[in-house]
Amino acid sequence: MRAGILLTALMGASSASASVMRIAADSMEYDWAVTGWSAGCARSGCYYDFNVTGVQNLTQRPATPAFKAYCSGFGEGAPYRLCDRLDEEDTDAIVVAKLLPSNITANGTRSAIIQVSLKYTDLETPTTWWNFTGHAASFYNQFSAPLQNFTITPSEIIGVA
Ligand SMILES: *[C@@H]1O[C@H](CO)[C@@H](O)[C@H](O)[C@H]1NC(C)=O
Ligand SMILES: *[C@@H]1O[C@H](CO)[C@@H](O)[C@H](O)[C@H]1NC(C)=O
Ligand SMILES: *[C@@H]1O[C@H](CO)[C@@H](O)[C@H](O)[C@H]1NC(C)=O
Ligand SMILES: *[C@@H]1O[C@H](CO)[C@@H](O)[C@H](O)[C@H]1NC(C)=O
Ligand SMILES: *[C@@H]1O[C@H](CO)[C@@H](O)[C@H](O)[C@H]1NC(C)=O
Ligand SMILES: *[C@@H]1O[C@H](CO)[C@@H](O)[C@H](O)[C@H]1NC(C)=O
Repeated sequence: MRAGILLTALMGASSASASVMRIAADSMEYDWAVTGWSAGCARSGCYYDFNVTGVQNLTQRPATPAFKAYCSGFGEGAPYRLCDRLDEEDTDAIVVAKLLPSNITANGTRSAIIQVSLKYTDLETPTTWWNFTGHAASFYNQFSAPLQNFTITPSEIIGVA
């Protein structure tokens, strides 16, 4: 029920006089930490499994919320899958992830390109929401290497007011 109300509110906002802001991603010093990355491929496809965290920063514009989420899913090129929030923060942050299609590199290893997107209501203005999206290349380490850590720097930041 709450989801339905929220969706209606968002649709109302976008169909009326919503203004869309695009923030230059390189104007922010902001990234997400991926920890516990595990990924592998079988004949049926590739999976991923990791935690991702972002820190709260109230001095940057837009201010960013603290979050930690667990993401897991399957299939290069599959649609976004919802990650589970692990934190207890009182924000509505939604985190989704998906594997982008990748190529076999020249040395025969296969890169794993993970894309993450975060959506949250502006920390000061409840009628504005933000959507941050970024991707990073790691690799399918299931049989060859321990769990990996790396960062994802959002490359697209959109706000809707
Ligand atoms: C994610 O974090 C939770 C809680 O901190 C931890 O229990 C879990 O093992 C972590 N998972 C991964 C894939 O790192
Ligand atoms: C918060 O953002 C400001 C402005 O980008 C930056 O100077 C500062 O280092 C950031 N603080 C943290 C804790 O990341
Ligand atoms: C994979 O290779 C194709 C053809 O060379 C290229 O067009 C595509 O951009 C590559 N994709 C990635 C993710 O590198
Ligand atoms: C294979 O190539 C990729 C990039 O082209 C590199 O990141 C990786 O370390 C290489 N792996 C090995 C085992 O040499
Ligand atoms: C952010 O926007 C993109 C493009 O519209 C969308 O595909 C993605 O689902 C959004 N992210 C979230 C977490 O809703
Ligand atoms: C990855 O980050 C986690 C949490 O910060 C840390 O406990 C772990 O030792 C790191 N692993 C590697 C391989 O650096």
